[in-house]
Amino acid sequence: MDFTKKMLRDDALAGKTIVVTGGGSGLGKSMTKHFLELGANVAISSRNLEKLQNTASELENETGGKCLPVQCDVRNYDEVEKMLQLVLAEFGEVDVLLNNAAGNFISPTERLSANAFDTIIDIVLKGSKNCTLAFGKHWIDKKTENTSILNIVTTYAWTGSAYVVPSATAKAGVLAMTRSLAVEWAKYGIRCNAIAPGPFPTKGAWDRLLPGDLKDKFDLAKKVPLKRVGDHQELANLASYLVSDFSAYLNGEVITIDGGEWLKGAGQFNLLEAIPEELWDQLEAMIKAKKRG
Ligand code: HXC
Ligand code: NAP
Repeated sequence: MDFTKKMLRDDALAGKTIVVTGGGSGLGKSMTKHFLELGANVAISSRNLEKLQNTASELENETGGKCLPVQCDVRNYDEVEKMLQLVLAEFGEVDVLLNNAAGNFISPTERLSANAFDTIIDIVLKGSKNCTLAFGKHWIDKKTENTSILNIVTTYAWTGSAYVVPSATAKAGVLAMTRSLAVEWAKYGIRCNAIAPGPFPTKGAWDRLLPGDLKDKFDLAKKVPLKRVGDHQELANLASYLVSDFSAYLNGEVITIDGGEWLKGAGQFNLLEAIPEELWDQLEAMIKAKKRG
């Protein structure tokens, strides 16, 4: 088995137009590349136009697909509406919104200024809301069929996590929005799903979550039962399935792709993994002796 290979057939996304926020770097770039390989038109957006232009031409050269760079700060609703209009002018229609843009950094919460907390909430929750509202209104107004929204959240959207509280708070909101609109907008043919990735190394995340030698001190692979971090192609394969017509009956779901990481932290007796094999005979004997006593 090779999880770094393509899962879907080459034309799986042919005819679809997909907008990927934060598509110029990291996981957004990897998902964009794969959507292009599968025949989709993709618009990538973020605050940094030069980065987007470089990414778009790199990916067009690599895949032969059509990738449109659009500058847009998702915190600003007017900019989101303009992005939508540019995408419509270029591609005629849009079928999928992938809310991937995010901001995050580690900090004890009491050290945060009100503006620091707001900055993360604004990018993640308000940004996803702005895009969702603008695209949803358009699809409903135009009666566009067979559309979908895919939100990138995290597993701490439901567990919570210390030291990334603004991000956890915002991602929880995005997950609630996913599940709520999956029901409310199904009547318009709009599906809403989410992916909760575990650790997938990217410069953006690692610089802010594991700065300096923290990346050596806290080897995230060790927290994962499968003992490795994720490969970008694994996430790209899952995202491609979720935005394709093959997942037409999947709605309101959050799919975790983390090698079992969050469950390892949650299970009360998971720590017993530290017990060596040879000790289990002794422990079993002790437990059985008590039962007889
Ligand atoms: C405390 C901080 C801070 C830090 C910024 N601030 N960094 N406070 N500790 N490390 C404060 C600033 O002082 C300021 O508050 C406020 O936050 C806004 O900072 P700006 O630099 O003005 O904001 P901006 O230019 O908008 O940049 C946003 C950003 C930046 C989030 C701070 O890091 C960014 O652009 N991030 C985008 C990419 C990103 O974050 N990617 C990682 C996603 S990873 P004051 O009060 O001084 O004005 C992810 C993974 C999840 O989500 C799970 C992984 C396993
Ligand atoms: P990344 O490369 O830093 O991606 C974040 C993207 O968001 C950047 O391209 C950034 O581009 C864009 N962005 C930030 N603020 C924006 C704004 N106001 N408007 C528009 N775009 C903005 O990090 P990543 O690791 O690939 O993260 C991608 C997604 O995966 C995020 O939703 C993150 O929470 C999620 N995630 C990642 C991991 C992981 O292990 N990597 C785990 C769980 C979840 P600009 O700076 O150019 O604006």
